[in-house]
Formats: sequence, C-alpha cells, structure tokens
Amino acid sequence: MARRPIIAGNWKMNNNKAATKELVDGIMYGVSQLDASKMPEVIIAPSFTSLWQAHDLIRNESKIALAAQNVNPNPSGAYTGEVSLEMLEDFKVQFVIIGHSERRQMFNESDEFINQKAKAILAKGLIPIICCGETLEQREAGVTDEHLASQITKALDGISASDVEKSVIAYEPIWAIGTGKSCDSIEANRTIGEIRKVVAKLYSQDTADKIRILYGGSVKPSTIVEQMAQPEIDGGLIGGASLKADSFIELIKGAM
Ligand code: 13P
Repeated sequence: MARRPIIAGNWKMNNNKAATKELVDGIMYGVSQLDASKMPEVIIAPSFTSLWQAHDLIRNESKIALAAQNVNPNPSGAYTGEVSLEMLEDFKVQFVIIGHSERRQMFNESDEFINQKAKAILAKGLIPIICCGETLEQREAGVTDEHLASQITKALDGISASDVEKSVIAYEPIWAIGTGKSCDSIEANRTIGEIRKVVAKLYSQDTADKIRILYGGSVKPSTIVEQMAQPEIDGGLIGGASLKADSFIELIKGAM
C-alpha cells in the first residue's frame, strides 16, 4: 500500500495576525490551482495564537490540515502557559508536533514526557508527528542509529500497532535544522530506513510499511524533488521554507 506523502510547514515562533493572514491566503490561492487528486497531505503548524485565525481561513479548504506545535498531555488544570488537547479540538487541529529538538534542547523535554503526549494525542483521535534526530557530535561519533532507535522506542512505549500506523515520524538531524545544509538524500533515506526497521522490530513489517516518516532539516524547493524520490522518505517537515507561500507551494508541487 502506497503511503500518502505529507508536506508539513512548521512555522515555529513566527507570524503575527497580519503575517498569518498573508501566508494562509497565499497558500490557499496556491493550492486552489493544484489537482487535489495528486496532492500530498498538506499541513500547516502555526503558533497557538494563530490557530483560530488559520482554522477560520481554511475552514472551507479541505486540502489543508492544521497542526499544533505542542500540547500538554494533561486534560486541564494548573499548568500555567500550557494548552490542552480539548482546546486544540476547538480549532479542528488534526496533528500535533511533539519531540522537536528545539523543545527537547531548550525546554528540557524528556522522552517520557514526549511519550505521554503521544498517548494523550492518540487517545483524543489526533495524530502525533513525532520528531527525532541526532546532534552533530552523535553523528560524528557514529551513534546516530542507536540514538534514533532509543528516541523512537521510548516515544512509542505502550502505544498499540493500530495507533502507530496512523502516526507520523519526522527525522530531523539537528545539525541540518535552520543551517541551510540539508542531510544528503541518500543518507536521509538510509537513516529513515533504519527508523522503519525499529518500528518493524517493535511491531511488525506491516506496521512499519504503513507509518509515514518525513525528513526535516533545511528542506527547500531546490532539494524536495530529490528527497521525495527516495523510497523511504514520505515527505517533509519544513521550517524556514514554509514561511513564504510561493516556496511552500513549490514544496507541495515537488511532492506531486
Ligand atoms: P528548517 O526547515 O528551517 O531547517 O527547519 C526544520 C524544522 O525544524 C522543522 O520542524
């Protein structure tokens, strides 16, 4: 069974109200020109403050889905500054990015916390986009594959095969994020193949064949076609190049 490609824009901490409108309007115009039957699944992940507006703008556009950049796994309560799944449901958010290296590194998020988030997201019927990736030091020390295996094994702990099949993994080597230096496509393909083997070992080959695994890290319109041509790469999780409508549309076209 062919896996449907995904092009997901992670806006990170960018775009106020005016910029959100401009970007979403631009993406909507761009996708209106594209053949829906050939399009990848298109996801945008604005900041919490832009979710309502983005939801409102895309409510009649079935070609674009919404993701949140984070969530707190607890249902409600005294968690100052946090946002719950129930709140995200109001905006018809379908995906939640978890385990991003920026949250792991700057906000000290642990594998256990990421696992709690994955379980809470799936329990609500939403889909986690589970990020993993190695530092440059880990790559140079030759421990990339075991590090990724550890991150994925811990993130998926206690999650059923049927939930894993629906989930999305994003392989984002930390040294490639925001650096302009994308991981070589052949190596990204190999690494993602290794991640798929971890899923096969934990579950089954069938589950591993179903889960979609994206590449992220300096994906650009000039790299996407070669990346999408790799059999293991099911799409892109894109930061910088998702912030302008024309380049995001080029990325979508590159996955068609
Ligand atoms: P860049 O595309 O800006 O390198 O960011 C990648 C990323 O971290 C997406 O989550």
